[in-house]
Amino acid sequence: MGLKLAHIRRNYKKSKLSEENIPEEPFSLFEKWFEESVISNEVEPNAVVLSTVSENKPSARVVLLKEVSDDSFVFFTNYQSRKGKEMEVNPFVALTFFWPLSERQVRVEGFVKKTDSEVSSKYFNSRPEESRIGSVVSPQSQVIISKKMLEDEFFSLLNGNLPVVCPPHWGGYRCIPQTIEFWQGGEHRLHDRIRYTKENGVWKTERLAP
Ligand SMILES: Cc1cc2nc3c(=O)[nH]c(=O)nc-3n(C[C@H](O)[C@H](O)[C@H](O)COP(=O)(O)O)c2cc1C
Repeated sequence: MGLKLAHIRRNYKKSKLSEENIPEEPFSLFEKWFEESVISNEVEPNAVVLSTVSENKPSARVVLLKEVSDDSFVFFTNYQSRKGKEMEVNPFVALTFFWPLSERQVRVEGFVKKTDSEVSSKYFNSRPEESRIGSVVSPQSQVIISKKMLEDEFFSLLNGNLPVVCPPHWGGYRCIPQTIEFWQGGEHRLHDRIRYTKENGVWKTERLAP
């Protein structure tokens, strides 16, 4: 392998995170950082790595965050996909956001619950027709013989007159966090890490070594 990787290194100096100016709960800080990542023109700031664990083996992939409430993070997927099956067995997940232009990472750890079917249908119906059909025809994570099989089904639904409704195996998950860690890159690799942990309904904060 001829890749030269050892010299790739960046000095972080955009910002600092200190105990003096953080809120008592993490969601407003998440909202502030998210808005700043949008202002910084971060590409797909709502893209987040979702890590799941089943039978002690982790797996990870990117999904899109579609809603943040005052107690949860919501994303949508196929309930029969690999991740869906893994979350059925073990609802504990991690979500990892990386906003390189802001030199920030946010790590969420918690458990998931499926969203109500009305929430899933409402979001499904808000998507463009092509995306809805794509979700309907794709047996996500299964081995398929060819792409043509998918395309044939896609165009037959697109050109047909049947309404495309949210299938029962497609919908949202609400991740309810137990910890949220905010990482701000710092000079000399002395990064700031503040972790919020919910204990008996109250958020406590701690500083972690970088
Ligand atoms: C930028 C980006 C956004 C994605 N958003 C989603 C999403 O919101 N939901 C989803 O099911 N898959 C999404 N995917 C595809 C997943 O990463 C993954 O390939 C798929 O969900 C199957 O994962 P699994 O086999 O582990 O279940 C996205 C991929 C990328 C790169």
